[in-house]
Amino acid sequence: MAGLFSPISIKNMKLKNRIVFPPIAAYKASISGALTDELMKEYGNRAKTSVGLVILEHAFVNMQGRVNIRQAGMHSGDLLDGYKRLTSMVHSFQGVIGAQINHGGTACRREVIGTQPAGPSCIKHPRGTDLPREMGEAEIHRTVVDFGRAAGLAKEAGFDMVEIHGAHGYLLNQFLSPLTNRRHDKYGGSRENRIRFSLEVVEEVRKVVGKDYPVFFRLGGDDRMYGGLTVEDAHWVALRLVRAGVDVLDLSGGLGGYDGQGQGYFVYLAEAIKPVVDIPIMITGGIKDPAFANHLLESGKADLVGIGRALLQDCRWVEKAVEVMQG
Ligand SMILES: Cc1cc2nc3c(=O)[nH]c(=O)nc-3n(C[C@H](O)[C@H](O)[C@H](O)COP(=O)(O)O)c2cc1C
Repeated sequence: MAGLFSPISIKNMKLKNRIVFPPIAAYKASISGALTDELMKEYGNRAKTSVGLVILEHAFVNMQGRVNIRQAGMHSGDLLDGYKRLTSMVHSFQGVIGAQINHGGTACRREVIGTQPAGPSCIKHPRGTDLPREMGEAEIHRTVVDFGRAAGLAKEAGFDMVEIHGAHGYLLNQFLSPLTNRRHDKYGGSRENRIRFSLEVVEEVRKVVGKDYPVFFRLGGDDRMYGGLTVEDAHWVALRLVRAGVDVLDLSGGLGGYDGQGQGYFVYLAEAIKPVVDIPIMITGGIKDPAFANHLLESGKADLVGIGRALLQDCRWVEKAVEVMQG
């Protein structure tokens, strides 16, 4: 059975171990969304922790989907030179780095995007400040194209994989959740309709990046709110995402945020989904202890583990894990 330090290949990406630095927004980009020296240093440090894979924080696919004024962008070819410097630096010390692409939907604020935020329905987001408007079908279609363009830019910039953000109450999660989607068209109502936007994004991204480039999907598998998505929905959704062409399901949750109680607080999602899909599963959430992380892998519950805040607190986490695992 694979453990923390077993290598893994996902499409044309080879990882030396199963430890992933998940996206953790530092919000140190320039106001045009470009890489800055501060961000370059931040990600250089993250890659030097010896994790198998570092994923860049969520980058907006268009200006309407931006959640923070210092958020990284993946919406314009003008940003490529900066990202190429970052990916070359990480590759120069044999690191592997991916990009996460996102649209904030109704979680965006007017003061950041300069206009009324938009999403599936006119329902205020749990973390939102403004009453949003409902996106029209043409706008949905344009956003799908923007996700594809962002994935293409990430690939061109030298990132080794791309992750579509479908969790934590952002746009794709908003469309999937019955709490935030009250539409009556083909993007709302039944589960089949609510997942449509995500599936179109996956298909568009795949079309742009080609069959050999790794595409992860961060799935908000449980809204953790009364009346929201549950693990039973996640099971159903996971099968459709796999069919649409996702290579790795990165399981997370929380319509109002990603936090939870105790170590491995989303492991129940992996337990429900791993047995029914034939692609690698990544699990993140409160994992601190290397032996706990290793057990998740060895017991076949997951294929990759995300270690976020524990790595931010201790950049020697991986080295210490080696010592622990060697007894
Ligand atoms: C400050 C901060 C920023 C985050 N930014 C992102 C993000 O950009 N994209 C994302 O998918 N998750 C984001 N997350 C969630 C993390 O990727 C991770 O799922 C979460 O922190 C739980 O894992 P951990 O307990 O190992 O930190 C963020 C978390 C924190 C604490």
